[in-house]
Amino acid sequence: MNEIKLFSPATVANVSCGFDVLGFCLEAVGDEMIIRKTINKGIKITKIEGYDLPFDVTKNVAGVSAMALYEAANPECGFEIEIYKNIKPGSGVGSSSASAAGSVYGMNVLLGNPYSALELTAFAMKGEAIASQSEHADNIAPALFGGFTLVKSLEPLEILQLPTPDDLFAVVIHPQIEVKTADARKILPENISLKNAITQWSNVGSLIHGLHTNDYELISRSLTDVVVEPFRSQLIPGFERIKETALKNGALGTGISGSGPSVFSLCKSRLTAIKVESAIRQAYTTQNIAFEVYVSKINMEGIRKLN
Ligand code: HSE
Repeated sequence: MNEIKLFSPATVANVSCGFDVLGFCLEAVGDEMIIRKTINKGIKITKIEGYDLPFDVTKNVAGVSAMALYEAANPECGFEIEIYKNIKPGSGVGSSSASAAGSVYGMNVLLGNPYSALELTAFAMKGEAIASQSEHADNIAPALFGGFTLVKSLEPLEILQLPTPDDLFAVVIHPQIEVKTADARKILPENISLKNAITQWSNVGSLIHGLHTNDYELISRSLTDVVVEPFRSQLIPGFERIKETALKNGALGTGISGSGPSVFSLCKSRLTAIKVESAIRQAYTTQNIAFEVYVSKINMEGIRKLN
């Protein structure tokens, strides 16, 4: 095989209480990429459609992660990368991670799968780091592993795959403003109170227990963020209105997707998700900001081959 076309999905990082460690993978939105083996050595980005992003491999997240794998594998061939972006950069649903993870996933397949998903996560983190100016894997891990993931540690890198209850659906609203992850990280405090730390780690523990036991009530009671949301929600016009509307219409919980401005809600059943989507759509219309809202099943597979 000399060429692979793939779907690289959007992801929701943090999942309220799990800043920098929890994430899940979406089905409804993602980029497409084509990775091609070439006789000439090196990595080239030959096409980018959708958004204006750098072709220079040292400045493009897909190029930086591709170079990390390429230098480790030192293959006899080179690679060309085509990126068809649907995920808007700065939207909070893992746009940079989709690119960073997609390039290494495709190259790995074309090289005969020498690397594990964990090793691919490490390569992709190099790309993600240039976008957000910090290394974290909470978007990359769900893109590569699918479902819900927990980044147990970065050094050494350890990812846990968490179970996903069957009837769980996400509703994501994307107000069309840009929040740069690096900026959204700068406004966070260096230290937090012990009281908030206790609340947060108890919620992370109970959310994971809820995922393991299909306990939707417990998942609902755990989707709370007392550490990051109070700061970042100020960057998202109408955040409280979205949250109130979603919860009133039956969402299990609502929080900022990654570093925002997208806001996710988790719902039990597609029917509830559709009801929440329509209520959010109605409520946000008065905000005078263009937006998109969609319902997505949790994507259990992560990145997948299209041809
Ligand atoms: N955990 C990251 C953050 C995800 O919230 O800053 C965004 O890349």
